[in-house]
Amino acid sequence: MRKQIVAGNWKMNNDLAQTQALISDLKKQNQTSDAEVMIAPAFTNLWSAFESLRQQPIEVVAQNMHFASNGAYTGEVCAAMLKSIGVSTVILGHSERRAYFNETDELLAKKVDAALANDMRVIFCFGEELADRKSGNQEQVVKSQIKNALFHLEASAFKQIILAYEPVWAIGTGETASPEQAQDMHAFIRKTLSDKCSSAVADGVSILYGGSVKPDNAKEIFSKPDVDGGLIGGASLKAEDFFAIVNAF
Ligand code: PGA
Repeated sequence: MRKQIVAGNWKMNNDLAQTQALISDLKKQNQTSDAEVMIAPAFTNLWSAFESLRQQPIEVVAQNMHFASNGAYTGEVCAAMLKSIGVSTVILGHSERRAYFNETDELLAKKVDAALANDMRVIFCFGEELADRKSGNQEQVVKSQIKNALFHLEASAFKQIILAYEPVWAIGTGETASPEQAQDMHAFIRKTLSDKCSSAVADGVSILYGGSVKPDNAKEIFSKPDVDGGLIGGASLKAEDFFAIVNAF
């Protein structure tokens, strides 16, 4: 049985005090589902978040990292630094990284390799833009994003990969893919993985949906057989909303 996962991507929100306040609100919530819960605060708040959540079933994950193991990369953070503060999962390939920081599939392949070499899990994000969907190219785009960044990996590496399908047109826009659109794409992604590796590998990989998931639409999206959870942006910044989504399973 693959894992159900709900991860909150806080993006560039919350300073230290706000991070602590939100974590204290999160601790007051009651989890009724079996989903694995993760939050991704900004780099500056990872250590404090990790310390505060030591005894809690909420994993603290990073939003990004560099591919090199150390060295002259001003402003960057590497896998070993994350590992040293207890962070062992990293989000890679978010559409905002691709769009605003020019992250390409080729760069992301290197980042994925670095994360795996450091025994980290990767939440690998990808998804088509509105123009791709309008022209009916969404499957082609998604397949090439996955292929270019992940298909050099051994089948066994997929145990450490979590996929997050996030159609760019649905991120932060209030517009969500319909549960059917999400299911169709997730089934396509699983088939792509099955063709590349095996159905056993494909069946074991959790595929999250991201893009304007809210308490009022999570249940329907999560009810689809190939949707194994969500990567949540805006709604992860309020503890009650985030846990309403966690408990939507
Ligand atoms: P959103 O963001 O939930 O605010 O649309 C999702 C994401 O960017 O991961």
